[in-house]
Amino acid sequence: MKKRLIVATRNAHKVEEIRAILSTFEVLDLSVLTDPPEVEETGTTFLENATLKAVAISDLTDALVLSDDSGLEVDSLGGDPGVYSSRYAGGDGNDSLNNEKLLREMDGNCERTARFRCVIVLARGGNVLADFSGAVEGRILQQKQGGGGFGYDPLFAPEGYEMSFAELGEEIKNSMSHRSRALEGVVDWLSRRFPLG
Ligand code: IMP
Repeated sequence: MKKRLIVATRNAHKVEEIRAILSTFEVLDLSVLTDPPEVEETGTTFLENATLKAVAISDLTDALVLSDDSGLEVDSLGGDPGVYSSRYAGGDGNDSLNNEKLLREMDGNCERTARFRCVIVLARGGNVLADFSGAVEGRILQQKQGGGGFGYDPLFAPEGYEMSFAELGEEIKNSMSHRSRALEGVVDWLSRRFPLG
């Protein structure tokens, strides 16, 4: 039987990517819990926010819980939007408004280097077990390209590519993304802890 793991997020795209990469685990979303709380992301780092989510959700279940806090860091914007990536244009996370704001902020700017960063925390019973991180370097495009992915994918071209993550598709994105790099550490850690997992 596959080992169960609950992903502490309401972002279905994240769950889908994590499920594709952690294929030897039964990856569940928050719908398996009754009335999971909305965990406020009050931290100022990815690690703090990932920890808040993993600890709060793992307090409600015996299952292993994985949380992902991630975002886009643009060098010429001093690392913004960073931990505020999902709320960049205000409100509670509207991808197209966030992308429009980023394009406005970058208007006329030739310095377009950026990276996606992801921190993953594993927790059980309200306690942190381990944390992992991953990043992918790239640049911000002049306009949105492609209809796949989520978040800033249409505006981000990974190093060595002209196409955005939204154009490259799931398989290529998952072979190099910040999330897949953090998950490599998770897979290694879980396979040592749960060899049959
Ligand atoms: P979180 O749910 O607080 O971790 O916010 C993550 C936000 O960062 C998302 O809403 C996106 O705006 C952005 N983000 C994180 N990972 C990705 C990705 O893989 N592609 C595009 N945008 C991402």
